[in-house]
Amino acid sequence: MKSAIIGLGVIAEVHIEVLKNIGADITCVCDIDMDKAEEFVSAHNIKCKIYTDYKEMLDNERIDIVHICTPHYLHAEMCVFALNRDINVLCEKPLCIKKEEIEEICNAVINSKAQLGVCLQNRYTNINMYVKELVSKEKVIDGFGAVLWCRDKNYYESADWRGKWATEGGGAVINQALHTLDLLQWFCGMPQSVNGSIFNVNHDYIEVEDSARARFVYDKGVFEFYASVSHNQDFAIQIMLITEDKRIVITDKNLIVNGQSMAFETIKTQNVKECYGNGHMNLIADFYDCVKNNRHFEIDAFEGSKVIKLTLGIYESKGKTIEL
Ligand SMILES: NC(=O)c1ccc[n+]([C@@H]2O[C@H](COP(=O)([O-])OP(=O)(O)OC[C@H]3O[C@@H](n4cnc5c(N)ncnc54)[C@H](O)[C@@H]3O)[C@@H](O)[C@H]2O)c1
Repeated sequence: MKSAIIGLGVIAEVHIEVLKNIGADITCVCDIDMDKAEEFVSAHNIKCKIYTDYKEMLDNERIDIVHICTPHYLHAEMCVFALNRDINVLCEKPLCIKKEEIEEICNAVINSKAQLGVCLQNRYTNINMYVKELVSKEKVIDGFGAVLWCRDKNYYESADWRGKWATEGGGAVINQALHTLDLLQWFCGMPQSVNGSIFNVNHDYIEVEDSARARFVYDKGVFEFYASVSHNQDFAIQIMLITEDKRIVITDKNLIVNGQSMAFETIKTQNVKECYGNGHMNLIADFYDCVKNNRHFEIDAFEGSKVIKLTLGIYESKGKTIEL
């Protein structure tokens, strides 16, 4: 399988590690910063062509799968460009940042021979897969999720695109807490309405929200969601679910079902930051298997855009209940 990566920053480090692990043929990489790209190739000891223009790369090379690891505002145009050339795409989260982009990407998927997968890797951890199986046999009638983390000035200054509506498309919700919102939707179901509010509590140097709250209503119940990057430390992410006969708490790597703790073995397959979870390895391997065997990858454009619709709903709601 011939692979390429566009965007050689923080998350590309995780993708390259997995690609080397699964024995992919890394044909070429692309970054607008040539020095950074050369450093990346040398640090990972790979022999491949380097491009600074992704369009030139996708037009010149025969690639089976391209990994999109660039800032948020570039995802939609890059996905569509690759799909139009029947190149399979694995896009980092978020799939896109605007409502109209969802339609553009979905249309490109429909008209392409290639597949698109979205990196919502937390759906691939042992604990979350176990909970999904557990709740699929019953109704979740209430849910709650909270991400309380710390992102400081150094973080926002680490790249130009962070902290701006035009390039990040939002803040704590679309970036740091997106996986948790996606899991709530995956466990509970797609909501019909949202009442949400966003705030900027202690980051006056960014345009976007550093905190948010939202209440979603879906056919079987409600779920609430809190996101904040205004803490001094990262707390463990919390998800709580109530079904007709179970009370489920997921916190960090621990699962409690009706008061009983369950131990989950967490095999560290990658050298990644704790907050990314450990799901990239399984997700990327599954995507490659889908492409190789012509099997449909579950987190496709339609599935990956659900959490974007919820996010944009929170931004639009401004404290009022709106239909999604
Ligand atoms: N799945 C996860 O848990 C997870 C974790 C971290 C980041 N991410 C996502 O990964 C993406 C990248 O984040 P990051 O932290 O690696 O950002 P980053 O700023 O560290 O890296 C982005 C890279 O893209 C390059 N780039 C910018 N414009 C480009 C263009 N037109 N063509 C080619 N390269 C270009 C930049 O030079 C930079 O090297 C974001 O969507 C982010 O949300 C996902």
